[in-house]
Amino acid sequence: MNRKIEFVKPVAEQIEDEYQGENDGDQEVDISMVMQPPRLYMAPMKGFTDHLFRNAFADHFGGFDLAVAPFIASKRDNKIKKNYVKDVWPENNTRLPVVPQILSNAARDFIVLANYLYDLGYPAVNWNLGCPYPAVAEKMRGSGLLPYTKRIREFLDDVIGGIKGSLSIKIRLGWRSRDDIFRLIPVLNHYPLEELIIHPRTGVQRYEGDIDLDAFGQCLATIRHPVVYNGDIRTPEIFKMLSRRFIGVNRWMIGRWCLANPLLPYSIKTGNDDIRNKIHLMKQFHAALFEAYSGVLDSPCHVLNKMKGLWRYIGLSFKDCETSIQKIKKTTRPDQYLEQANLFFETEARSK
Ligand SMILES: Cc1cc2nc3c(=O)[nH]c(=O)nc-3n(C[C@H](O)[C@H](O)[C@H](O)COP(=O)(O)O)c2cc1C
Repeated sequence: MNRKIEFVKPVAEQIEDEYQGENDGDQEVDISMVMQPPRLYMAPMKGFTDHLFRNAFADHFGGFDLAVAPFIASKRDNKIKKNYVKDVWPENNTRLPVVPQILSNAARDFIVLANYLYDLGYPAVNWNLGCPYPAVAEKMRGSGLLPYTKRIREFLDDVIGGIKGSLSIKIRLGWRSRDDIFRLIPVLNHYPLEELIIHPRTGVQRYEGDIDLDAFGQCLATIRHPVVYNGDIRTPEIFKMLSRRFIGVNRWMIGRWCLANPLLPYSIKTGNDDIRNKIHLMKQFHAALFEAYSGVLDSPCHVLNKMKGLWRYIGLSFKDCETSIQKIKKTTRPDQYLEQANLFFETEARSK
């Protein structure tokens, strides 16, 4: 990107620095990680990982090298809607490098939007070939386009010739079957792509059911582009298992599990899974996010809705917390909400 960004040390790192003296002697060092630290990507999650979230996350926890922003749908009329794109305006994204993402099946519309984004200073944009939601997939967009190899080839022929920067793709194994990706790989190999981010599920699986690591391994063997793994990296142990199995992969994307445990990327990077003040940091992050949304959203009701949505994921990190989370979700005023949320962090939260 053209602009110069100064990244401040996240709070988690500052706190860890204080304890470094104690830890230096007895920390286990994984040589492979010292030689080649993993690159961690924050996954795009529409409705969650907007720029306010990304900035607050980078300030408090760190650990990510970049974020792919939630998708922007291309429009037919060649117009760029401010509301669609302001999430990726560079002035809103000074804390973490970002790759904007486009959802589209029309090359001409894609090119207009992508070139606007390159002109903002982004060197690469990402094409969404993974979204599983029926409203998207039924219109042959996202993972709904995956069975149509010829359409994808025609799209890429036009797009690659018309865009001013580079292109990466976020993809699933297929819509109904992993046969889709195996048919597509020779086509994708043909184009100069920046990287392929693979979530090894089909579209019809949405975000549930087993991830298909065998299929991911088979893809790796034939894809010529750099590959980013994405899916169910819930703990540092799972990350270690995956990185041992796929030794050629050095780029990893994490979505839901960084909302559940925001110190996961930091733990993966540092090998330290026992972070003091974890709950305190989560509480600070939560307060910063509440303040950020209060500053931009129209009404307290919108702020509450936005914040309440997060608890679906925060709750995954704590045990026996359903009653407390229900209390948080039932609040109707900001002061009530904050009181219940703070009470949760102060008293209820017992890490899993
Ligand atoms: C609520 C929600 C919104 C999502 N929005 C997007 C999106 O805008 N673009 C995209 O490519 N993937 C999107 N995803 C998929 C995630 O980027 C990621 O691929 C998925 O959550 C699997 O990774 P995980 O197991 O680490 O969560 C979304 C997922 C969820 C649950």
